[in-house]
Amino acid sequence: MKKLIAFIALVFFIMTATNFTSCNNSSEPKADNTKDSVEKVVARGSYLANNVAGCMDCHSKRDFTKYSGPIIPGTEGGGGEVFDHNMLDAIPGTLYAKNITPDNETGIGTWTDDDILKAITQGINKKGDTLFPIMPYVNLNRMAKEDLLSIIAYLRTLKPIKNNVPARQLMIPISMAYPGPALQASVDNNIRPPESDRVKYGEYLITMADCATCHTQFVKGQMDFSKMYAGGNTFNLPTYKVNTANITPDSATGIGTWTEERFLNKFIPYREEKAYNFVVGKENTIMPLAFYAGMKDDDLKAIYAYLQTVKPISNKVEKYPE
Ligand code: HEC
Ligand code: HEC
Repeated sequence: MKKLIAFIALVFFIMTATNFTSCNNSSEPKADNTKDSVEKVVARGSYLANNVAGCMDCHSKRDFTKYSGPIIPGTEGGGGEVFDHNMLDAIPGTLYAKNITPDNETGIGTWTDDDILKAITQGINKKGDTLFPIMPYVNLNRMAKEDLLSIIAYLRTLKPIKNNVPARQLMIPISMAYPGPALQASVDNNIRPPESDRVKYGEYLITMADCATCHTQFVKGQMDFSKMYAGGNTFNLPTYKVNTANITPDSATGIGTWTEERFLNKFIPYREEKAYNFVVGKENTIMPLAFYAGMKDDDLKAIYAYLQTVKPISNKVEKYPE
């Protein structure tokens, strides 16, 4: 029950912590799909699905014999990755990432755009099943519709993969985990802040990238909202344990002394395969560096700018506990 409360509290928190309300006062021009070439829309969707929002990271197989578990080529969108309570104590059961390739039998080939939009922003799939909120529909519910549609357009271009993903096993009824009241009924009026507003755009990107779920600690199954981004969440992985880092601007224990350049250097080296393409020893990281490394420099800078504005929290984290 505690775990359930943690998840409900988490989604409510995300709802109130992020500020992408549905007021429609932006002077930014809305993307017009009729004018935008299809390629441009798919390219934006590919960028978001592969480098910002975790879609392709969670919904593909990852190779943890390499540093930071890059995606195994050929498994893109095929699903099957396991998320369970052994890996992260706060997960009440065993979940499997679904097949989101356009395979008609085992994937989402027969789904309409509206079916997919409903699944990824309301957590209700085509069959009418409620999805567990580790699938970050609470965050996606705040994202601009043109970005969501571009992700959907990109999913259509994936190679269909035949992979029947096992059914989840939950220790709680899903109805109790569903964060209904946290969700807006429609994403039509969501705004993408202008890129020139670095802090707001950084907040938008960090929400889409779901950095908070990993980087905010669960204590006895409950997310500690007073310590947003302060790290210390333990992932139990087959050969090692890793605690997530404190990424608040606290000077002594967080990234308060990090320059923008140092922050970028956490990611940029992984644009080259040689940075992750080696056999790692016991210790690795679950942070998908090879995935986020593809983010544009300006987008990483916006995330840095936003993180500089969050509350500094003193929390010393031992990345690799014994
Ligand atoms: C943290 C991992 C994670 C991320 C990030 C993620 N998903 Fe999911 N997704 C899941 C899991 C796990 C499920 C299954 C949930 C369940 O069984 O209750 C799921 C379910 C889905 C479904 C429903 C499929 C079905 O057959 O019911 C769709 C569609 C989907 N995800 C698309 C996406 C897209 C698009 C993105 C990126 C914008 C994304 N996901 C990001 C883990 C993730
Ligand atoms: C799947 C979980 C996960 C996600 C998602 C994740 N991280 Fe991490 N992050 C970790 C772990 C574990 C570590 C500690 C090991 C390491 O340094 O890679 C870490 C380390 C870091 C560090 C290094 C801090 C230091 O003191 O060395 C930074 C910076 C960081 N993360 C930023 C981010 C940002 C920004 C995002 C979102 C774009 C993000 N992380 C998403 C798990 C995650």
